[in-house]
Amino acid sequence: MQFEGKTALVTGASRGIGRAIALELARQGVKRVLLVARDRQRLEDVCQELGYLGAEAIALPMDLTDPVGVNVAIAQAWRHHGPIHLLVNCAGVAHQSPFLEARLPQVHSEIATNLVGLYTVTRLVARRMAARREGQIVNVSSLMGRVAAPTMATYSATKFAILGFTQALRGELAPFNVKVTALLPSLTDTDMVREMHRFRWVQPVTPEAVAQAMVRGLSWGQTEILVGWQSHAAVWAQRLAPGLVDRLVQLAAPPARRIATVPFR
Ligand SMILES: NC(=O)c1ccc[n+]([C@@H]2O[C@H](COP(=O)([O-])OP(=O)(O)OC[C@H]3O[C@@H](n4cnc5c(N)ncnc54)[C@H](OP(=O)(O)O)[C@@H]3O)[C@@H](O)[C@H]2O)c1
Repeated sequence: MQFEGKTALVTGASRGIGRAIALELARQGVKRVLLVARDRQRLEDVCQELGYLGAEAIALPMDLTDPVGVNVAIAQAWRHHGPIHLLVNCAGVAHQSPFLEARLPQVHSEIATNLVGLYTVTRLVARRMAARREGQIVNVSSLMGRVAAPTMATYSATKFAILGFTQALRGELAPFNVKVTALLPSLTDTDMVREMHRFRWVQPVTPEAVAQAMVRGLSWGQTEILVGWQSHAAVWAQRLAPGLVDRLVQLAAPPARRIATVPFR
């Protein structure tokens, strides 16, 4: 993909990986970046940073779990600032918890943001891209969308689902010249993981490294973009020796917390 002069919409752009992607796109010559997240002030700050890099930036505060609000905001954004050539679905939440202690509101929030939120934006933008016979969509999954991890069951489930969704859309949208790619970051040093119990042996990468890997992968026309050697090693090991990977993941997972036994009735 060529980036110069294009318009991109990045969700989750107020911080972390989404912010790094927005900045990297500006460095690559993207003309206009539409930034989506809930926190208006943080979005305005990123807009300012993009301005220094010579890109036009527009803050679009919205909550992806509110489909009506998203519908209105995306329609207006396309009318006023479109067409959008590149959509990066990066917004996401993660709640780490042993499955037996998981709370339903957290499970709902992961599914509503990571999966239904991504679906809502994609549907609105993909239809318009298909009508123009031009577009590129990037769905941010995770290495945990290939190798699921204890204490992250629902999060892993949403990230596996994103890969399936991406693969299906790739086939469906190809006749309309809309390309669909998955980005699979491994552990990345952002707010999302700061409070989490870490997995042993996993080295975090920077959000900037993820953004650069995405740009490189899109330039090469990759359909699934893995970030860092640890991800490549994990995915190959999963293919060749899934039983061994299961064992290693169990060893690497944070120590199981003592779980109060609740008698069944
Ligand atoms: N960090 C990692 O180790 C890692 C590894 C693999 C994959 N990923 C994936 O990479 C993506 C970005 O993660 P990150 O590490 O950059 O996380 P982060 O620093 O916590 O940022 C998450 C972003 O999503 C936005 N967001 C969350 N809920 C939203 C909602 N309901 N509506 C609109 N925006 C919402 C947040 O903005 P507001 O709070 O302002 O709304 C923020 O901009 C996620 O999809 C994550 O699953 C992360």
